[in-house]
Amino acid sequence: MKLPRFLQIKRKYAKPEIKTHTPEPIGNKVARSPSGKGTYRTRFQIGKKKHTWFMRNILSQEQLEMIQKLRKLGVNAEKPVFEKTIGGNITVFYEHGETLHTVLKKLVDKKKKTQWKIVKKLALRQLAKELAKMHCEGIEHGHPHSHNLTWKRFRIGLIDFSKAIQRQINWSDANSTYSSFRDDYHYLGSRVLKFEFGMKLKEVREFFQKVVNNYPCTEQVKQKILEQITEDFQRAKY
Ligand SMILES: Nc1ncnc2c1ncn2[C@@H]1O[C@H](COP(=O)(O)OP(=O)(O)O)[C@@H](O)[C@H]1O
Ligand SMILES: [Mg+2]
Repeated sequence: MKLPRFLQIKRKYAKPEIKTHTPEPIGNKVARSPSGKGTYRTRFQIGKKKHTWFMRNILSQEQLEMIQKLRKLGVNAEKPVFEKTIGGNITVFYEHGETLHTVLKKLVDKKKKTQWKIVKKLALRQLAKELAKMHCEGIEHGHPHSHNLTWKRFRIGLIDFSKAIQRQINWSDANSTYSSFRDDYHYLGSRVLKFEFGMKLKEVREFFQKVVNNYPCTEQVKQKILEQITEDFQRAKY
């Protein structure tokens, strides 16, 4: 799809060459997550005049490996650009993007309805693909709500793999497959699709139909999983 001119990306600076420069912190800001835990957002100078924002986070080895694995699978998981071990902790610097929550809120506040609709349309299409790619490999994100999704250069990104789990899936068993990914269905269905995008049951079902269609299981199993997702969505309080 060709984007309207006003939405085409105007990159202000050339892409920073991270490998050839040692980033020097020039400012510090704490980004608060809904969990209340603060994540340091540090601004780094790259080159002489160019600057960009990176997120700094401490990860476990498992989390880092999970992110690397997902990126290899083509999932747009947060992009580590720089990592070093500080005091025994793996400190990773990520590319910074705005969270989907912030982007949507700004568009609502500015009454930019057309742009909001475009973000919704593009984000939905990408989310279904990203989720399917992860699930087909047996990986559950764990809490894909809009504070753990980013929106940058018209692409959805996934961040915060603190709850991500690699599972062994029995694709012939609808119940266990559904249970393995229940949190993903729930957070996306109720928090993103319903709460952020205002989607009703029918649309939500269509979204998950696209996800489930990719699963390596029979039509009958797919149908059962979809039924369970729908029931769960109807029962959810928000
Ligand atoms: N790469 C990133 N780009 C933009 N914002 C980020 C990024 N990583 C983290 N944040 C911000 O920091 C918050 C907390 O980070 P997160 O990794 O979700 O940790 P937790 O939720 O466990 O505190 C996020 O909700 C988001 O607002
Ligand atoms: Mg988070």
